[in-house]
Amino acid sequence: MTLETLMEVYKTRTKTSEKLHKEATQTLPGGIAANIKYYDPYPIFMESGSGATLTDVDGNEYIDYLASYGPLILGHGHPAVKQAITEHLEECGAILYGTPSQIEHTFAKKIMEYYPSVEMLRYTNSGTEATLLALRIAYGYTGKYKIGKFEGHYHGGYNQVLVSVNPPISEAGDIENPTPILESRGVEPSQLENTIILPFNDLESCTKILEKHQTELAAIIMEPILSGYVPATQEFMTGLREVTEKLGILLIFDEVKTGFRVGMKGAQGIYGIKPDITAMGKVIGAGMPLGIVGGRSDIIMTTAPISGSDVFDSSTSKTSSAQDVLFHSGTYNGHPLILKAGLATIAVLEQEFDHIVACTDLLKSGIQKLFADRGIKIVMVGEGTVFNYCITQLDEIKCYRDVQQSDFALRKKIDFALLNEGIYNKPTNRYSVSVCHDEAVVAKTLAAYERALEMVFHED
Ligand SMILES: Cc1ncc(COP(=O)(O)O)c(C=O)c1O
Repeated sequence: MTLETLMEVYKTRTKTSEKLHKEATQTLPGGIAANIKYYDPYPIFMESGSGATLTDVDGNEYIDYLASYGPLILGHGHPAVKQAITEHLEECGAILYGTPSQIEHTFAKKIMEYYPSVEMLRYTNSGTEATLLALRIAYGYTGKYKIGKFEGHYHGGYNQVLVSVNPPISEAGDIENPTPILESRGVEPSQLENTIILPFNDLESCTKILEKHQTELAAIIMEPILSGYVPATQEFMTGLREVTEKLGILLIFDEVKTGFRVGMKGAQGIYGIKPDITAMGKVIGAGMPLGIVGGRSDIIMTTAPISGSDVFDSSTSKTSSAQDVLFHSGTYNGHPLILKAGLATIAVLEQEFDHIVACTDLLKSGIQKLFADRGIKIVMVGEGTVFNYCITQLDEIKCYRDVQQSDFALRKKIDFALLNEGIYNKPTNRYSVSVCHDEAVVAKTLAAYERALEMVFHED
């Protein structure tokens, strides 16, 4: 079946989404609130969710594998999350205090139990803010102002990291020494000098670049598992930790996707490596906005207020320059309602994580078999509760450029056929599995997959 035929079916099933999207284009550029939510011909508008299921505005039901790009590891409307939210509202009567509250310390201790590299932490309101603060801390601590960033890695939507996230391979230069490419209009070209691009999973080439820029680099920031599903090798991670330590460059793990997803202890638990700074987000907020920056206490302590010198403190005469304080503040930081829902999420994961991984593995092997039965070569990649697959002639996927060699045209057809069969994900996106995706849901997914593949390979 052609993509056009599959899209006709999509359009017939999702007429109200088409109408709502058209209307929304009058007020929202592209009809959407975040560009990631868009795909051609228009995205599906959802109306409600329950467990593993999403229902769209036309009444179609889908098994959800987007999980809102990862946070919803307990699925939609989990009773533990609902209870934490209502209890907070009923018992405390306030959503937010604008003062410290005990949950900030309680939650911090829970994070430190699983992430021993985190000796102290600060809260932010998103993953983007977490990596942004991580970089400011690295600059403040080292007095250096450049960062190393890996090709194809995403760390949020601000200037320093909007470089070489999804670069066209034809412009990306030498694989061993990638050319930095700006990812957005409005990012000043000087970022091309401030952000040094590194090749993932290539220790020798990385080391050469790091040695060359040693005196300028405050830190390197990385997704230890690229896009949440392409793992670094153990050798690469061990080597990178050694090299950064030797060169006096801080190592920042961006565990926004991987924290409490690839394992309870995140990617650092898998590799047994302690980064200097960790940024987290997604799962810890139970579907609400929350981020964390944590790490070595001497580094994170740079955010502590010094009496009389904070930018907001005009009550005392300044005893030291504001330059002594690393600015970190925010109206919603340490939001008590979100922290309580996050804590409830971790409590459920403590009981259920292994079962989610078992169901993820069942789904992965089922998908692999369906492709193998049709003689189509795929490479399945992922750890814990996240995975994706590449339709490719390669035997292994090690970096962004390997992913780019996939047959995206075929994958897109399959993903549209899956949408038509009630399996929700943004076309070509990774799969995030939740506690609600039990064996029965996996079996239903695989049956839909079989029908979708049948459809794709059917001659029109
Ligand atoms: C690895 C990584 N870092 C940072 C971010 C930004 O997080 P947020 O969307 O919460 O701002 C994301 C979001 O997808 C991410 O995957």
